[in-house]
Amino acid sequence: MKEKWFKKAVGYQIYPRSFKDSNGDGVGDINGIIEKLPYLKDLGIDFIWICPIYQSPMDDNGYDISDFLAIDKSFGNLLDFKNLIKKAHDLGIKIIVDLVLNHSSDEHLWFQKAISSKDNEYQEYYYFKEGRYENDVRKPPTNWQSFFSQSAWTYVESIDKYYLHIFSKKMPDLNWTNPKLRNEMKKIARYYLELGCDGFRLDAIAHLSKDNTFTNINDLELAFDSGKFSNREELFDYLKELKTEVFDKYECFTVGEVGGCASEQEGLRYSNYQSGFLDMVFNFDTCWQNGAYGSIDKKDSEIVTDVYNLKTNFKRWFDAFYQKGWQPVYWLNHDHPRVLSQYGDLNYHYESGSMLGMVLLFMPATPFIYQGEEIGMSNVNYKDISDFDDISAKNFYDAHKDNYSKEWIVHILNRCSRDNARSIMQWNDSFNAGFSSTLKKLKINDNYKEINVSKQENETKSILKSYKQFIKYRKEFIDFIITNKIEFIDLDNQDIFAYQIKPLTIIGNFRNFEVDFDFDLDGYEVLYNNYEILKYQNNKINLAPFQALLLKK
Ligand code: NOJ
Repeated sequence: MKEKWFKKAVGYQIYPRSFKDSNGDGVGDINGIIEKLPYLKDLGIDFIWICPIYQSPMDDNGYDISDFLAIDKSFGNLLDFKNLIKKAHDLGIKIIVDLVLNHSSDEHLWFQKAISSKDNEYQEYYYFKEGRYENDVRKPPTNWQSFFSQSAWTYVESIDKYYLHIFSKKMPDLNWTNPKLRNEMKKIARYYLELGCDGFRLDAIAHLSKDNTFTNINDLELAFDSGKFSNREELFDYLKELKTEVFDKYECFTVGEVGGCASEQEGLRYSNYQSGFLDMVFNFDTCWQNGAYGSIDKKDSEIVTDVYNLKTNFKRWFDAFYQKGWQPVYWLNHDHPRVLSQYGDLNYHYESGSMLGMVLLFMPATPFIYQGEEIGMSNVNYKDISDFDDISAKNFYDAHKDNYSKEWIVHILNRCSRDNARSIMQWNDSFNAGFSSTLKKLKINDNYKEINVSKQENETKSILKSYKQFIKYRKEFIDFIITNKIEFIDLDNQDIFAYQIKPLTIIGNFRNFEVDFDFDLDGYEVLYNNYEILKYQNNKINLAPFQALLLKK
């Protein structure tokens, strides 16, 4: 059987807003992506996943879509998009776009119609419900809390009803129990495939179906239980429909975002080779393994990478999926802080950035590199709440401002917020890091003069060069990587991430101090060492801070 192309591919995620601005309006755009295609080709990228570029009021930076079939003006137009597909294909790069099926913007025509009259038929496209009355006080239909801190219900006075939104209140959830709505969404997917897109990253796919009994979680005013809207039975019927009626009719690659809610078994249900509905699903279990998530009460010294947990989480998924299904692997995306600041160390910039690249890029899964990761971009030092551009950061502030100082909340957001991954791409050391001739809303990381693409292209050793080299090696050994089983070495080790995927062995020190590692190097060839030296004695490697070795036997 011919292997699917994506098993051998390396992906690159683009957050278009902050990638490259071609027309000087301060926002990255489609033509900016076109300009950088040769850079991506040179890096060794086979496909790009582009975050939403559709018409949007930008409440959630594009995930709130007001017209699924139109390109947002800030990114360009349909011609630009067609041109991007053509130019990328000419270079052998595939285009994967974000498909947002769970919600629209409240500025979408369907929603506008829905709230235009008391019993408008478009209300069936969403979840509209009457309020509950307790002692004559009107309350939302349930006490469900959204992912973005607030209640998952918002009241519309003119029709005296609430609508459900599991993200921001400007992102009403679409009602997938309604076949009419499902058909509309299938049409949208077909439209992008007809345009020549090679597949989809399916946003928030685990949430398409809700607990339709709409009951409270507990007695609290507000409570969070993702089970009310994640991985529910009917969802798999919807996915089957999408697969048979849309995806299977095209050469369509699909990667679903199932997040922290799904177990490996559920993951397999989505994407096993035999009866899965998607090619692969992202899980979140290897993110935040330093305790930073929900860490408002933690001191900085308590934020330490739990290397053991990180490894065992990878292992659990690899063990479950071996010969049963395929997976993506990644360190971060646009919803996370920078991995260099989470698992790496700015004081060991090249060492930790290249170590992370090496550990990721030989795994038996499709790697997704997030823009800027390949040069070790780091978290930003935002000074004030107004510097944050993300609705979830603003809601976080509102939810905590009565109990914590503003300074502390900014500190925590600098540690955890999604804006860390969304600062502009650092292309060079010139004005605005070569991103744009103007900067309006988007922020720049102060360290762009030291950390940028052009500098790393010219250095003899750099994170960028190491990523290129690892991708080359990955391609050289790809047939082994996609066939052999990953074996973790010394899994209990609290500092070292080591694994074997025959004939390769990867050893990475996750600490900013030296660590001894028991390993017999006899017969191994060193393909890559991110230090000049290799200290070895009595079957022990003395690994320098963030030292990483790629070995072959
Ligand atoms: C997941 C996306 O990655 C995130 O950025 C977005 O806020 C939510 N889904 C809602 O679309």
